[in-house]
Formats: sequence, C-alpha cells, structure tokens
Amino acid sequence: MGQGHAGDSDRKSARHVIVRRYDNNYLQALVKGSREVFTNRSMVNHLLGIEGLSKSEIYRYLDTAQSFVEVSERDIKKVPTLRGKTIIHVFFEPSTRTLSSFGIAGKRLSADTINISSSSSSVKKGETLLDTVRTLESMNPDILVMRHSESGSPHFAARHLSRASVVNAGDGAHEHPTQALLDLLTLRQHFAESGRQLEGLKVGFVGDVRHSRVARSNILAHLTLGNEVRLIGPSTLVPRDFTAAFGGGKVSVVHDLQQGLEGLDVVVCLRMQLERQNEHFVPNLDEYAKEYCVSEGILARCCPSSVVLHPGPMNRGTEISGEVADGPRSLIRRQVNNGVAVRMAVLYLLARSAEPHEEVEQ
Ligand code: NCD
Repeated sequence: MGQGHAGDSDRKSARHVIVRRYDNNYLQALVKGSREVFTNRSMVNHLLGIEGLSKSEIYRYLDTAQSFVEVSERDIKKVPTLRGKTIIHVFFEPSTRTLSSFGIAGKRLSADTINISSSSSSVKKGETLLDTVRTLESMNPDILVMRHSESGSPHFAARHLSRASVVNAGDGAHEHPTQALLDLLTLRQHFAESGRQLEGLKVGFVGDVRHSRVARSNILAHLTLGNEVRLIGPSTLVPRDFTAAFGGGKVSVVHDLQQGLEGLDVVVCLRMQLERQNEHFVPNLDEYAKEYCVSEGILARCCPSSVVLHPGPMNRGTEISGEVADGPRSLIRRQVNNGVAVRMAVLYLLARSAEPHEEVEQ
C-alpha cells in the first residue's frame, strides 16, 4: 500500500468523487453557482454522512477498505501512507470500538494520532464547541475525527474549519457513516462466499430505530444499493411514518417481530438507546425483550439462512440472545475486525483528496 496503491488517474478520480460529494463549501458553491471552490487550494473534504453518497462512492470506500484488510493480516501491519499527517480524535461521547479502531487505523497508516475526550477537554470548563474546534485547528491537524451527542456537530465543525477534514464518528441520533460502511463490507465479504452480491438483499433492523444513528446510516446505504429494508419494533420506536421519512419505496415498517423477520437475509439488532430516550418508549426492558429480543428459535423459524449484525455494545438478553450473538449466524466479530480496514480507507481517501491541486473537474 502507500506508494503504488493508487495510480494517478485513480487518485484523481478518488479526489473528484470526494470533492464532489462531501465538501460543504462545494455544495454551497454549487447552489450559488460559484466556481471559486474548485480552484481554492485550501479546499477540504469531509465524511459527514452516508446521505448524499452515490453507489459508486460507497463501493470506492468498500474496495479501498478491502485492500486494507490485507494490510491488517500481515505480520508487520504498518504502511507509510499517512506519514507526517496528524489526526485528532475528539470524542464527546463514550466509545470502545469506534475510538480504538480509528486509533489503530491511523497508526497502521503511520499517522500521528491523539485522543481528546469530553472529560479531558476544556468543554468541561464551559468552552464552546466552536472554540474547541478552532483551538484544535490551530495545531494544524490534517483530520479531525469527531463523536458528539448533538446531531450536526461534525457538520458544524466542518463549516468552521478551513484546513482539516472532518470525519463523523457518530453525531447524536443522526449518522454514523463509518459503522454503516463496515457493516456493508462485512456483508459483502459474507455473501461473496456464496457467490451473492451486496445488492438484492432483504435487510431488517430490529429495535430502537428512532434513536439509532447506526440504523439511519445503514438504511440510507441499503436504499442507495437498492436493497429492501424492513424496520421492525414497537410503534413508539419505529413509527409508521418512517417509511415516508426514508423516501417510501423499498422501506416497510412492521411491528410484529415474527412477521418482520420472515424471509430476511440480514438481521441488524439495535441497542436500546436509553441515553437518548427522554420519555418512556417501552413499559420496561423485560417487557420489551419478551416481544423483540432476537433469539435463535425465532430466526430458525422465520429466516433460517439469515446472518446477524450488531454494532455493539450489546445488551444480551434485551435486543439479542447470547446464543445468537455467539452462534454461527453472527457476523459481529467480523464487523469489529473490519472496523479498522474501513477507517483506514476513510482516512486514506480523505488525506489523499486534500493533497494540493489546481482544479477539480466536475
Ligand atoms: C454505536 C454508536 O455509538 O452509535 N456503537 C458503535 O459505534 N460501535 C451503537 C450504539 O451505541 O448502540
């Protein structure tokens, strides 16, 4: 990897794709009809969400990530690709998998990485998000990876930064694009083993769809790929109008678990997002589990050949049984494993797109 990973034309088109889709200024410029941004050498690119990505852009991430899977399997798991680049992880919410996999990804690409958490930052002392972001930018990072409990925070940061790229590592109940990409990579690898594609799948999301950024990013991705999406859960957590919210078409809402699971290829179990629920959406967790906990018995009856994903952290016995989580249809460990390769791909593509250039074609 590193030198020789992508040829000139490859690089140019990667840059083109990223600039075209992720850059807020670019989108604003498009709206205003200005060409200024195309020739601006300080233009930066971001990954703020799955929303707006085309199918080919999603595949570009997946293809690049697949090539990084191989790096992670080597004895020496390090390439010089991002040597001299600085990545700051700013996490205002707890995280195990996302933070550690971004950290490992950056280190495997030879970037310098540091972590800032809400408990260790001046946010505790009342500093605004804008001041924090500007302070960090003064240290000249190349990429800021941000997790925040408020939806739109990474977008806000991206609007106020002039040099660093922003990666959304989860913003409130809004989006978690790298989780969706690693889920897709995991499914692509799994279905390739039986000669199937990532497209033409029936995918069900079970549980707290209302508050799940993982669900939102995944749903958008599956719809872009043309997959059938089923949202399964109580009406408080999966309201009927979610079909329309996702543009109708291939999205359906089903309140009965058994009916919802019927014939699915993929079952995505979602954690009950208690920290985002400001009212009682279910009577209590035991009652919820009786109706919606995904068990091996119900999967064997309704969708015997399905595979199961869970973004973690898992509440065994609430949204997923231990038997399913550890059983043969579970792809959960593979998801965690792919998290590193996907984040390497995102960092690599953003850093490459930020290389100085004269002009980007439309
Ligand atoms: C998810 C998140 O933080 O949104 N976890 C993760 O990134 N692995 C899902 C969750 O917290 O339920």
